[in-house]
Amino acid sequence: MTTQAPQCPFHGNSETRSVDAESVRGSSDQARTTASHDAADYPVADWVDVAELASDPYPTYARLRAESPIAWVPQLNKFLVTNYAGCHTVEQDQEIFSANVSGSTMTRAVGARPMLRKDDPEHSADRAPVNPVLRPKSIKEVWGPVFERNAETYLEKFAEIGPREADLNRDYAAPVASQNLIDLLGLKDVSVDQVRRWSHDFIAGMGNVLDDQSIWDRCDSSTEEADRLLEELIPYYRQNPDASMVSAFANSGLPTSNVTANIKLTISGGINEPQHMVTNMVWALSNHHEQRAQVLADPALWASVFDEAVRWQSPIGMYPRETTRETVLEGVRIPAGAGIGVVVASANHDAAHFGGSAADFDIHRPKRPHLAFGSGVHLCAGHWAAKTSIGQVAVPLAYKRFPGLRVDERRNESWDGWVFRGLTSLPVTWN
Ligand code: HEM
Repeated sequence: MTTQAPQCPFHGNSETRSVDAESVRGSSDQARTTASHDAADYPVADWVDVAELASDPYPTYARLRAESPIAWVPQLNKFLVTNYAGCHTVEQDQEIFSANVSGSTMTRAVGARPMLRKDDPEHSADRAPVNPVLRPKSIKEVWGPVFERNAETYLEKFAEIGPREADLNRDYAAPVASQNLIDLLGLKDVSVDQVRRWSHDFIAGMGNVLDDQSIWDRCDSSTEEADRLLEELIPYYRQNPDASMVSAFANSGLPTSNVTANIKLTISGGINEPQHMVTNMVWALSNHHEQRAQVLADPALWASVFDEAVRWQSPIGMYPRETTRETVLEGVRIPAGAGIGVVVASANHDAAHFGGSAADFDIHRPKRPHLAFGSGVHLCAGHWAAKTSIGQVAVPLAYKRFPGLRVDERRNESWDGWVFRGLTSLPVTWN
């Protein structure tokens, strides 16, 4: 780690070119315009290797936290904030650390600025309509039975694939997470494959910092399909309101462009992360036999398993902010207009907050807040939905049906990503 006065990183076109392509709400929004500032002294972590981050980011995070938890990373064109205190401070101050980042590819991908790229008060106006749909009571009473039905449906198909061929990610986590979101949104008769394609195309658009036309073409074609459906659904739900998110948005009085942008944001963000949590939980329990036995004997522990797994292997590793003025964060001076990467996956392993065993999976660890769902005004709108649909329903029901469920060590698993991280394949068996 060097501390130096580098050449101004905010002059000229500073698009990030090396970030992992799967990035959604994070590395996507990195194209920024010039911000002038006086040369400043700040730590520079020019050793960070983006390929290593994508294959296993945790050693890099540990070194950044130890050497310099707020550091300029030239390859990413960002200051990475990797400790808990720094991430928490950023999240509590939207006036200095704005979510309205310059050159947002997210806005381009979903057709208008969604809530995740707004600060209050505009942000809260977009978010308020769906808050009642996503509160614990509504999730438990209205949506709990729907999540159960979806889990049972896909466990049936999963059983047919059998314990020698089944891939938990492909054959259960992906379709269950998609169907849950289709129902919660109220998208009616679209298929899980279609919505997953939309989700992937929007995500690719949000990550299209190199302006690849073929990516925009796919994103635009999915946008067109989704917009066509929403053109029918929005008037329908105005006449026939129900408990779904599209209904809440349709009756919110928000302009249609805000409504459709926020629905497309939810389609992009509401599938991959719950999907990754199904596999993360099963992977964690397969590698911790004692804790697995404990939760199978005492289902009240499922809430702790979910919470610990989402902290330990956070599906969203990093998301962006931008400074609105020069500021000092944890003793490091950061210029105005700087890109900030809030690395919550690293903050969630910070021993200064979680103690010396922060890197271990321990469902009995003393409760401390973590940042896997963010914090502050953008705290994940769907966190109760995710905790319930995955932590209380999809995974416990999978173990109920297949008590022997575990990673199949005869076949290879694979992890990928750091901005968004999860198992891309998890072969399992249960006999
Ligand atoms: C385990 C699953 C999930 C994880 C780990 C997760 C994580 C996150 C994080 C970290 C943020 C904040 C990003 C930022 O501040 O830039 C966020 C925001 C958001 N999430 Fe989730 N999410 C999950 C599931 C869901 C689901 C199921 C939905 C939809 C029902 C959803 C909808 C949203 C929305 C709409 C926002 C934007 C909130 C705002 O700007 O106020 N998420 N999520």
